[in-house]
Amino acid sequence: MKILIIGASGLLGKELMKDFSNGNEVCGTYSTRAAEGLIHLDMSQKAEIKDVFGRIKPEAVIIPGSITAVDFSEQNQDLAWRVNVEGIKNVAVLSKKAGAFVLYYSTDYIFDGKAGPYSETDKPNPINFYGRTKLEAERVIQKELKGSFLIIRPCSIYGYEKNGNNFAMQVLTSLKADKNFTSFRDQYGTPTYSEDLSEISLKLFSNKKEGIFNVAGPDFINRVQFSKDIADVFGLDAGLIKEIGSTKGRQLAKRPLRGGFKIDKLKRELGFSTLPLKEGLIKMKEESKKG
Ligand SMILES: NC(=O)c1ccc[n+]([C@@H]2O[C@H](COP(=O)([O-])OP(=O)(O)OC[C@H]3O[C@@H](n4cnc5c(N)ncnc54)[C@H](OP(=O)(O)O)[C@@H]3O)[C@@H](O)[C@H]2O)c1
Repeated sequence: MKILIIGASGLLGKELMKDFSNGNEVCGTYSTRAAEGLIHLDMSQKAEIKDVFGRIKPEAVIIPGSITAVDFSEQNQDLAWRVNVEGIKNVAVLSKKAGAFVLYYSTDYIFDGKAGPYSETDKPNPINFYGRTKLEAERVIQKELKGSFLIIRPCSIYGYEKNGNNFAMQVLTSLKADKNFTSFRDQYGTPTYSEDLSEISLKLFSNKKEGIFNVAGPDFINRVQFSKDIADVFGLDAGLIKEIGSTKGRQLAKRPLRGGFKIDKLKRELGFSTLPLKEGLIKMKEESKKG
């Protein structure tokens, strides 16, 4: 099958490239971080999306691609909307025309964080601009693709990335440099290991699952505990982790405090769960040794 992966240069995209390449003809795109074998695609450019679809003629389109920085989205709302909503709409319309199946990645930031962890049927209510764009993109996908889409919702994706900036990498970089790291004690979620998320995505896709699926780790914890578990697994000084409440934080956009996901549907439909945090971190440590 010909598969187009939009955003293959990101944390999750790299894993998807590996997993979906097996038995398929996969083409991945980057936006700003060029990498060997990837082609350029900026989702804010309609003509470029059309050109890529014309060249690749995908039978399936996988979209980990997104502006993901929450505060950046709050400050650059026009751009965030152009990429995360209008870009997705253009991709969805062309996918529909081509008869291609779409796998889109959303987030727990579509919820207000008053009652997490959330199930697939809970009512979204985003409290920041990034969350609004992701929810709107979900709606666009559902409207355009009817029955021919899969929306996967992960939470706090972590994994080893050289020069990467995901939360776990930020903690690691600070602690390794003997610098304090400030974590929020009131922000809860269900951290999701990138390799696990990618492998489960492939299973859902191969099993022709459709609709919305939460795919997140089984541990519902706050950022302080998340940071401490990282220190523990990597043998670093947990004393460098400082606690703070969100009101005293320096985050520009509001964060859902009790986010995260319930994964009963995933367990029911695939018959297994996601990796516990400690196990994911051990795998991440093994990956980090490879450099
Ligand atoms: N990270 C998390 O904690 C988290 C949590 C919940 C949900 N999610 C969702 O999961 C998905 C994957 O997240 P991730 O952490 O792997 O993201 P990431 O590492 O930030 O990667 C984002 C990808 O999107 C691409 N991209 C950015 N702007 C683009 C544009 N204008 N046009 C086309 N592609 C563009 C990036 O390309 P370049 O790097 O080459 O510019 C990169 O390949 C996203 O949809 C995100 O919203 C993430």
